[in-house]
Amino acid sequence: MQAAGAVFRLLQGKRGLSRAVRSYGGEATSDAGAGDTSATRSSRRSVDVSPPCPFSRDEVLAWLKEDDDWKLSFLWEEADRVRREHVGDEVHLRGLIELSSYCRRDCLYCGIRASRKIERYRMTEEEVMECVRTAQKLEYGTVVLQSGEDLGLTSDFITRVVRRIKTETPLAVTLSLGERSLDEMKEWRMAGADRYLLKHETSDPELFRRIHPEDRAFPVQSRGKTGTVPSQGPVRLPGTVPALPEGSSNPRVELLMRLRELGYEIGSGVMVGIPGQSYESLADDIMLFRELDLEMIGCGPFVPHPETPLGRQAGESMGTVHNGTVPGFADGRSQVPATDTMTTKVVALTRLVCPDANIPSTTALATVNREHGRELGLERGANVWMPNLTPLKYRILYEIYPGKAKVIDTAEEFHQNLLATLAHIGRVPGKGPGGRKRVIQ
Ligand code: 5AD
Repeated sequence: MQAAGAVFRLLQGKRGLSRAVRSYGGEATSDAGAGDTSATRSSRRSVDVSPPCPFSRDEVLAWLKEDDDWKLSFLWEEADRVRREHVGDEVHLRGLIELSSYCRRDCLYCGIRASRKIERYRMTEEEVMECVRTAQKLEYGTVVLQSGEDLGLTSDFITRVVRRIKTETPLAVTLSLGERSLDEMKEWRMAGADRYLLKHETSDPELFRRIHPEDRAFPVQSRGKTGTVPSQGPVRLPGTVPALPEGSSNPRVELLMRLRELGYEIGSGVMVGIPGQSYESLADDIMLFRELDLEMIGCGPFVPHPETPLGRQAGESMGTVHNGTVPGFADGRSQVPATDTMTTKVVALTRLVCPDANIPSTTALATVNREHGRELGLERGANVWMPNLTPLKYRILYEIYPGKAKVIDTAEEFHQNLLATLAHIGRVPGKGPGGRKRVIQ
C-alpha cells in the first residue's frame, strides 16, 4: 500500500504537495483570493487554514487525460487510500424519494424537461411519509427529497413534510428541488432541513448557458386527484425563471453560497461528458469543488436521452467517443467522453482534492456500467450510495435518462443486493445521519 503511494507521488512528480492554495483559474498565486470568482471569494474563511491543495489544475488536467491503465491503477489506489483514511469504510445510505416529475425548466439533456409531453406525477404527503418509513426500517441515515423544479410543490407542502420527518424520525433531510427562492430555502431550513443539493453541472459559463435555456419557463401545473396528471405541454411564461446575465458566472454557484449562509450542508456536482465539455473545463470543475469547500459532491456520466436535444446530438457523435477517437473543438481542445472510466477519474481526483467530502457512487455510473459501475465508484473514492425509494409506479415516470429506473426491484429487494455488494467489497453500511466530518473545523 505504501509502495503504491510512493509510486503515485513519483507519477505526480512530487510537485504538488508543497504548493500554496491555488486559484480557481489554476495559476499558483500567493494571494489566495486573487483568481476567485466573487461567489467563491465570499465563501472563503477570513483565515484559510485548510492544507494546501495536493494538485494544481494542470496536474488534475493531466490525470483526466491519462489513459495508461498501469498509471491509472495508482490513481485508483491512492483515491481508495485517502477515502479510507478520511471517511472510513462506512458507506452512507441516503434514501432517494423523487417527489414530483413536473419541471418548469427545459434543460437540453433531461428526460423530464418541461417541453416533453409525458405523463407526470406529484406525490402526496402520505406517499412521501410511506417512503420515509421504509428508509427508517432499512436503517438509512438520510432521506433525499428530490424533484423537477416544480412550483406546484408549494413551500408549505415541503415545510410540512420536512417538519414531520424531523419530528417523527431521526433521519437527516436533504433537499434537491432545484433553484427555489431564498425565502423558501430559509423556511425549509427553519423546519429542520439539513442539506441542499444543487448540481452546477459545468463551470464553463458558455456551456452552462447553452444547455440551460433561460428564456423558457413554464407555469405551475395543477395537481390531479390521484397524484398523476397529464402534462400540460409548454406554455411560455417569460420572467418566472431568473435570467442569467451575459457573461455572469453559474447562478447555481451563487445560490449554493446563499444556502451555506442559511446553515445548510451544501452539495453540488457535474455531469461528465456533456457534449461540448472539454477536459480543461472539467479540470476547472474539480478545482471549483475544492474552492467551494463542498460537503457533498456528486458526479455521474452524461447519459444521452434520445428524446432530448442533447441526447440526439450525442447519439450522432457518441459512437466515435466510445471508440476512443473524440471529436475535437475548433480551438484544438477535445470532447470529454461520457464513460465509466472517465467518471471514476473525476471521482478519484475529487476525493484527492476534497478528502473529507461525502461523494456518492451515482446511479448514472451504475447505468453506464450495469455490472460493476456502483462498485467501481465506491472503490475509486466514493463513500455514499443513494438507493431509490420512490414507488415503482412513479419511478418509471421519472426518467431523466434511459435505463435509470430499475423498476423490477422494490426498496427491500434492492437493499438485499446492496448489502451483498458492500460485503463483497469489504465495506459496511453507515450508521447515523452521515454528515460531513471536517478535517479542520
Ligand atoms: N444524463 C446524466 N445525468 C442527468 N441528469 C439529468 N439528465 C441527465 C442525463 N441525461 C442529472 C443531472 C441532474 C440530476 C438530477 O440528474 O446531474 O442534476
